[in-house]
Amino acid sequence: MIDSYSDFRSALLLWYDQNQRMLPWRTKPSLYNTVVSEFMLQQTQIKTALPYFERWLIRFPDFHSLAEAETESVLKYWEGLGYYNRARNLHKLAQCLVDADAIPDTPDAWKALPGIGDYTAAAISSIAQNHPSAVVDGNVVRVLARLTNDDTNFSSNAQAVKQFTVLANQLLDSKRPGDANQAMMELGATLCTKGQPQCQCCPLKTFCLGFQAGKPEGLPAITRAKRTQVQENRAFIIREQRLLLYKIPSDAKRLKDHYELPSLEALGLTKDSKHLKKLTSKKRGISNQVITETVYELDTALNPIEEKEPFYWIDLKSIDRILLSGPHKRWIRDLLMLL
Ligand code: ADE
Repeated sequence: MIDSYSDFRSALLLWYDQNQRMLPWRTKPSLYNTVVSEFMLQQTQIKTALPYFERWLIRFPDFHSLAEAETESVLKYWEGLGYYNRARNLHKLAQCLVDADAIPDTPDAWKALPGIGDYTAAAISSIAQNHPSAVVDGNVVRVLARLTNDDTNFSSNAQAVKQFTVLANQLLDSKRPGDANQAMMELGATLCTKGQPQCQCCPLKTFCLGFQAGKPEGLPAITRAKRTQVQENRAFIIREQRLLLYKIPSDAKRLKDHYELPSLEALGLTKDSKHLKKLTSKKRGISNQVITETVYELDTALNPIEEKEPFYWIDLKSIDRILLSGPHKRWIRDLLMLL
């Protein structure tokens, strides 16, 4: 496949030097910028994370300011990015680093800290500390599966990551590991894309067996377990300029202390009630679930609902100041515009 690893590395880095996107954590590199950006990019695309990153750096410019912040404020600055445990872990990580005698300097040492797995440990160590550890995310898997024309049928992303980590480390440029890792991720995100890879512009085409075999699009072959379908029915109830919201308990697994539209079930209602009118229906995917949420308006004939934990009547003027789950924040904004 690859006759000369050094030719491969040079081609990749030359392409990166000429084509990399100007991103704030690249133009102003620092350990802190790398850590924050890699936490944000764990489940989020660069274009989504960018405005969050900029705002974050103004409010929390370094590990100290982040370590000292209230959890509520940290979560507020993450609001809308989803997977909130990343924000909680980043906060805890800042506290650990501020208290630590020394900054970790190997992937294994990073992995002992909150929120850091193989991927983030390799990204931080290589980008900020020049440590030769390969980063393998979904984009890199795609590049490597095509490069080797490997049509193994993987049952999960994790299985493919594990297999390709060996090759990724062999190919890694040990003089510029951070750039080489970012180049592979960037190539997967921009040219070697899922649907229509732009092979003609690819700096690796002369090394790529998938390209030579003429069918890179189908790779990698990953057949994930089927996603389960979940139905949720929600209520959108406004009385006297206040919206009824449900506060997720502090000991919940996900989205603790976030507000969301209450489910009909929690209010003791069913969707067949004659007092309900359907407003909208939305579909979204999280991990292995597809959730269809339907939002209903409740007419005024029913008895008023008292404010009692976990239900709160929130003044419409204060909606922007409370912690809302991302999708609920968007629906509420859209629904309020329709009023
Ligand atoms: N995805 C996650 N981290 C990245 C980085 N530093 N560069 C490009 N893509 C990424």
